[in-house]
Amino acid sequence: MAILVTGGAGYIGSVTVEDLRLGGEDVVVVDNLVYGHRSAVDESVPFYKGDIGDHALIERILDEHKVAACMHFSAYAYVGESVDDPAKYWENNVYQTIGLLGVLLDRGVRRFVFSSTCASYGEPQYVPIDENHTQSPTNPYGWSKFIIERILESYDNAYDLKFVALRYFNAAGATERLGEDHEPETHLIPLVLQAASGERDHVSIFGNDYPTPDGTAIRDYIHISDLSRAHLLALDYLKNGGASEFINLGNGDGYSVKEVIETACRVTGKEIVSQNVPRREGDPSKLVADARKAREVLGWNPGFPKLEQIIESAWRWHQSRPDGFCDE
Ligand SMILES: NC(=O)c1ccc[n+]([C@@H]2O[C@H](COP(=O)([O-])OP(=O)(O)OC[C@H]3O[C@@H](n4cnc5c(N)ncnc54)[C@H](O)[C@@H]3O)[C@@H](O)[C@H]2O)c1
Repeated sequence: MAILVTGGAGYIGSVTVEDLRLGGEDVVVVDNLVYGHRSAVDESVPFYKGDIGDHALIERILDEHKVAACMHFSAYAYVGESVDDPAKYWENNVYQTIGLLGVLLDRGVRRFVFSSTCASYGEPQYVPIDENHTQSPTNPYGWSKFIIERILESYDNAYDLKFVALRYFNAAGATERLGEDHEPETHLIPLVLQAASGERDHVSIFGNDYPTPDGTAIRDYIHISDLSRAHLLALDYLKNGGASEFINLGNGDGYSVKEVIETACRVTGKEIVSQNVPRREGDPSKLVADARKAREVLGWNPGFPKLEQIIESAWRWHQSRPDGFCDE
């Protein structure tokens, strides 16, 4: 039986595909390559280029492979863009996901691991944020994930779909072969490393007047391999008959933008120029996960919890592939 991975050519999906294969699973990938990279997926993995909203394509994949479960990574994930062009997010993240779920259920695929996000919580009422924290997203991207979570709940209730919705905090870092190559890039660690390697002349600090010790925003960074492993554990959990769950994935440690830049200076041995610019609308001061449930329910333990380890891995990858994947 195979695992269908949507968005498997993207940053988090490609690492998970590799780990699933190492774990002995058969994998099938569907990705339209709008943001993903063909070369991030090994040639030996069955790969279908196309949209998850293309029902005929998904039906063909399910005809050609015995699919036991789906890991659904594909989505658009630019918060600012979702504010400027929300229709794009409702169409891709919500409408196309509903279509995908319909085809899966029609064909009897009832196990689903979903990439949700800490952006579904909105402005935190307290930190660390646990799964019972109120969800009140501040942008259409966060809402698109929130809506799919509610759809999954209703599908469990009505159609017996069993799911784990993993609410990631900030994915970062790299494996030996796979790393972050987004165009445009908006994530802090790759931007900081581009500044370290001279590809950009500075890195912008959005807001230095937050109520945090150094005035810059605090985030919880989680290594991509730790994220990937949580997906494998979620799959095992569902295979063993686990009930549907919402689970945070983070380290429970927060680092400020300034701390990230200082750590990157130490790791790379380079000077990194930063510039203070105004806050971005809707950017909370502090997002840190309470990830106890991931440990309790999935038996998950992060292997690379330190910011230094995360940045070191990203820097190694950046140096080995300064131009990224160079394909699509
Ligand atoms: N990166 C993070 O820190 C983070 C944090 C929280 C949640 N997430 C979620 O995790 C998932 C993966 O994130 P990522 O950083 O790997 O993003 P990514 O853009 O690198 O990967 C997404 C992949 O999905 C593909 N895709 C998009 N729409 C598609 C469609 N309609 N049909 C087929 N393929 C499509 C893209 O080409 C891309 O390869 C996303 O759902 C994102 O919302 C990411």
